[in-house]
Amino acid sequence: MQYAIEAIDVKKSYGDFQAVKGVSFQIPVGTCFGILGPNGAGKTSLLGMMEGIHKISSGQIKILGLDVATELAKIQPLLGVQLQTNNYFQFLNVEQLLDFFQELRAASINNKYRDKKAIDAMLDKVSLLDKKKVKVEELSGGQKQRLSIAIAMLEDPKILFLDEPTSALDPQNRRYTWDFIEQIKQDKDKTILLTTHHMDEAERLCDELLIMDHGKIIQQGSPSELVRSLNRHQNIVVKYKNGQFDGEFVKHAAGVVDHKDHGDSIVVSTVKSLETIKSLFNHAEERQIEITEFDVQLPNLEDVFISNTGAALRDD
Ligand SMILES: Nc1ncnc2c1ncn2[C@@H]1O[C@H](COP(=O)(O)OP(=O)(O)OP(=O)(O)O)[C@@H](O)[C@H]1O
Ligand SMILES: [Mg+2]
Repeated sequence: MQYAIEAIDVKKSYGDFQAVKGVSFQIPVGTCFGILGPNGAGKTSLLGMMEGIHKISSGQIKILGLDVATELAKIQPLLGVQLQTNNYFQFLNVEQLLDFFQELRAASINNKYRDKKAIDAMLDKVSLLDKKKVKVEELSGGQKQRLSIAIAMLEDPKILFLDEPTSALDPQNRRYTWDFIEQIKQDKDKTILLTTHHMDEAERLCDELLIMDHGKIIQQGSPSELVRSLNRHQNIVVKYKNGQFDGEFVKHAAGVVDHKDHGDSIVVSTVKSLETIKSLFNHAEERQIEITEFDVQLPNLEDVFISNTGAALRDD
């Protein structure tokens, strides 16, 4: 099987400091692959090596079977790159900027042909067509971020690298960007590699995830596999009034491993949620306790991360 991207024991050092410490993975064509990790985990360094921006210190990266170290010229036309920091030429307007990138790309592959219509079509896709003549410096943060995705997508790349595509966006713009990424995902020829600090983003967009910290892979799998691997207890939260749960009863109810009664709510950790719920409800009925609210909290990717690193995801 030919992979979109294959990394074999890849390392990156800056002087004496090793930012990526021997990372291997394979990304099948047509998938959305996420690299999740806190600040300084090595995500951008790893992406930079795949994109041919950073020199690989050791190991090998292949893109669609081609070796990044020796065949970069063949690979680059296949890539679309959205950089984490994009200090674009602020004095250009949106159209001029896209035009500039199109020209740059055409020059890099010795191609004189440039498709003006593609610029309008792409701006339309990211809802920036009406901003065509607006200077880049006058765009909002969300519009700039969409513009950077448009630049990455302009030449219809086979592999799209998105480095924190929704950092610094408000919830509405994040959702908008997710929808746009989901549209790109429909094309099964395209492979997307994105980095993120956001668990909800990873859970929603990525087929496969790699969790990194301190330059190493901590865990890899689909979002649901990672959550399942946690094998964590579920928390049942019951709000109640009129009466009191018998602590001894709750402690020995089926599946219960821990519980805390706050007087108006009880939180019960269990390994057999259904049986525990039945016992709690029967007990409440016998004692005429009125249950007013009820919730089962499932573990999520954040819990996976915390359980692996002992730390929450640091966010900018
Ligand atoms: N050009 C560089 N020279 C020296 N050290 C660097 C360089 N680029 C990155 N580093 C260091 O390598 C480590 C990994 O940085 P990197 O940018 O890859 O992390 P990241 O996971 O992308 O973090 P963030 O979530 O903040 O973007 C950090 O400790 C960083 O300080
Ligand atoms: Mg980064």
